[in-house]
Amino acid sequence: MNNTNSAKDNMKWWKNAVVYQIYPKSFKDSNGDGIGDLKGIISKIPYLGELGIGAIWLSPVCKSPQADNGYDISDYQDIDPMFGNVDDMEELIAEAKKYNIRIMMDLVLNHTSNKHRWFEEAKKSKDNPYHDYYVWRDGEEGVEPNDMKGVFGGSAWEWVPEIKQYYFHQFLPEQPDLNWDNPKVRREIYDMILWWMDKGVGGFRLDVIDQIAKEPDKKITINGPRLQEYFRELSKETFQKGDLITVGEAWGADIERAKLYSNPDGSEFSMVFQFEHIGLDQQEGKEKWDLAPLPFVKLKQVMTRWQKELHDCGWNSLFWNNHDLPRIVSRWGNDGEFRVESAKMLAILLHGMQGTPYIYQGEELGMTNVKYDIEDYRDVEIHNMYKERIEAGYSKDDVMRSIYAKGRDNARTPMQWDDTEHAGFTDGTPWIRVNDNYKEINAKAQVNDPDSIFNCYKKLIQLRKEYSVLVDGDFDLLLENDENIFAYQRKNDKQTMVVVCNFFDKTIEMSLEDKVKDMQVLVANYSGIEDASVLRPYEARIYIK
Ligand code: NOJ
Repeated sequence: MNNTNSAKDNMKWWKNAVVYQIYPKSFKDSNGDGIGDLKGIISKIPYLGELGIGAIWLSPVCKSPQADNGYDISDYQDIDPMFGNVDDMEELIAEAKKYNIRIMMDLVLNHTSNKHRWFEEAKKSKDNPYHDYYVWRDGEEGVEPNDMKGVFGGSAWEWVPEIKQYYFHQFLPEQPDLNWDNPKVRREIYDMILWWMDKGVGGFRLDVIDQIAKEPDKKITINGPRLQEYFRELSKETFQKGDLITVGEAWGADIERAKLYSNPDGSEFSMVFQFEHIGLDQQEGKEKWDLAPLPFVKLKQVMTRWQKELHDCGWNSLFWNNHDLPRIVSRWGNDGEFRVESAKMLAILLHGMQGTPYIYQGEELGMTNVKYDIEDYRDVEIHNMYKERIEAGYSKDDVMRSIYAKGRDNARTPMQWDDTEHAGFTDGTPWIRVNDNYKEINAKAQVNDPDSIFNCYKKLIQLRKEYSVLVDGDFDLLLENDENIFAYQRKNDKQTMVVVCNFFDKTIEMSLEDKVKDMQVLVANYSGIEDASVLRPYEARIYIK
């Protein structure tokens, strides 16, 4: 196996691994309460082993009042009883290890829950030792320190009458921002991370990490002046003591910043999630709910730029989906007639690139968006936006259209395991409605079908372990101005790979014959090629030489 990457010196394990994101609440319920849990996840480790992934990113499972589904943590060193307990977590780590899968936890370090012991103390008085763990400003009731808004609507300031001060929260009032300028806060955080590392956790995803160095007086939330200092200290005090994968969620990352954050010297993180390709279908300068048509050529340009610029001096994360984003097959693909073809095409496009790919639960099955009545949604962001926009005079149809396209609950409907009641997710009543299409789209129907989306992902995951060109090959966009085809080449000193993808539901002529004429097809989403110079709807191929 000369072309395997494992033979390479200094190869970080996460460079040819694929990460699978689990949203625990919606993955698998083991005790019939309608909510997914750790024992449910443990029971599905063989499924994930079969898929071949190298790590699981677990959305937050720590103790939380669930104002924002676990992104409001009240105890970083305990598991929420609805998910299980610390023993279950240790069992999960051990079980996953048997399949060579590491567990990544979600670190929510920008804020805690307002029910966290630190905040309970902090709000008691200005001279409480925990007061300075959060961000406070004097003021008068009804006169906020400034007009900053929370990400989920309303003011970013919340009044505490007992001490006549406002505290700052970038998200919900139930998510007070931590004060990173306080060295004691940072030390507490590092000790907590080391505690989890000691339990065998294999990595971390860092929630809104580029928002920790806020300076609300200057209205700075993202990319505050001390951000680099904090990243480096955090990494040195914790991550660098282990062989971890770390990925920072960084909505404010441009390429120059991402190079620093994913510096190969390991001084910060392994990589970041940047969102330039994600924001393309929203009107410039407006909110995500203000929809714009999908700009295909722009998508090619953006993805190409990230591929080229981070080559050899940083590392990309490759993703279409997460628990905050709509399902990719409903967004850039086709969730009707060509669902299977387009889901595979999107997988092939992404998994041919340089970086670490992330699969969000159900993506490997081609799960789709939902269209529910407003009462069937659970997400606080959806409900806050709905209320605000209806009050502001938007029509209900308009608001619902945005929710169908962008609502976070599109990703949070229960995982579709089989065609039994509630898609085999729970024996009880699911906390959120199951997508009606579960009888057709489910894991059971796909695992043993060699032509399924699941098996396409499985193959792509395997290729990353076998072909070094996927890991270190350079990247060149082909057919740059083509308005239908996304094609590119990867090349290193051993192999050349060409990936061609038709992004539309029509047959397209392709003028790449010279390029691919002496190459073999390694993966495709149609069986057999009738005419090499024609791509059928959503057809995708990987050629190799
Ligand atoms: C980003 C997370 O992905 C999202 O789900 C959460 O609501 C916010 N950060 C706040 O923690």
